[in-house]
Amino acid sequence: MVILGIETSCDETSAAVVSAGDVRSNVVSSQAELHARFGGVVPEVASRRHLELVSYVVRDALGAAAARLDDVEVVAVTTGPGLIGALLVGVAAAKGIAFGRRLPLAPVDHLHGHVAALYLQPEPLEPPFLCLLASGGHTLLLDVRERAGFRRIGTTIDDAAGEAFDKGARLLGLGYPGGAALDRLAHEGDPEAYAFPVARVPGFDFSFSGLKTALLCAVRDLATDELERRRADLAASYQRAIVRALVGRTLEAAEATGAERIAVVGGVAANSELRASIPGAALAPLPLCTDNAAMIASAARFVEALPYPEYLALDAHA
Ligand code: KG4
Ligand code: ZN
Repeated sequence: MVILGIETSCDETSAAVVSAGDVRSNVVSSQAELHARFGGVVPEVASRRHLELVSYVVRDALGAAAARLDDVEVVAVTTGPGLIGALLVGVAAAKGIAFGRRLPLAPVDHLHGHVAALYLQPEPLEPPFLCLLASGGHTLLLDVRERAGFRRIGTTIDDAAGEAFDKGARLLGLGYPGGAALDRLAHEGDPEAYAFPVARVPGFDFSFSGLKTALLCAVRDLATDELERRRADLAASYQRAIVRALVGRTLEAAEATGAERIAVVGGVAANSELRASIPGAALAPLPLCTDNAAMIASAARFVEALPYPEYLALDAHA
């Protein structure tokens, strides 16, 4: 089955061609630079940019896969969760392509997509496993027993882990989105320099807002030149606290649920310290951690596609 995937839930315009679990192409056009000056994604700006880019990105994805629209058998698209206007652009594009070719259309949940990054070649993961999904919008612990879905057993009660990285990065003057930059800066610092708190919340949930406040206070207490000297230490210690919180909870949940396998997905799964901190875990491949359409096409294989022309009434959800 040749699947054309489209993802436009936030600020990445992406299209991919996946067949038999093989990523034949995965084109991602990031709008990060466009939003950087605002310190975060501006939804309306993102929607308009998706509209400008989506046709070109689809064309690029087909070209890179040496495929034509005639070869596509299913169109898959993220229908939510995400920014509503951004999602609608992808959904409309997918409907147009599918309708024009009388193809079926598979509506894909973005979070299912992140998990499905693990189901692609060359090392497709077989459930059951416990999955930590850490991204800019979510921090979830998922009990995955089948490729078609999952059960949530934990979530964040305030900020998502990626959001904590981005807000921390902003406090340290690293721009937006700062997760990857903070990761790089942390390599030059001492992770034990500051004792940032790891929140203890009930169940298998997470909390990162107190940690963010702790960093804010630490930054405020430093004079400008002192802050410049301690930036790497602050980054390393802050990252250490986030990773500790993620790993600690994940290991507790694995023990409590008797999970034999742990997997880590989502944008924060690209973090170098996190990747090194759960030995034996299945990690989403680096290019498939942050938002991309290959993971959406991957999930589509385990979703019931809507036949032509039933999907014309399909809606996106925020
Ligand atoms: O999955 P994703 O692309 O978008 C959402 O679905 O939210 O995740 C984006 C998040 C951002 O917060 C970004 O800063 C974070 O993933 N991120 C990282 C790293 N690379 C991306 N966080 C920490 N370390 C990284 N290396
Ligand atoms: Zn995502």
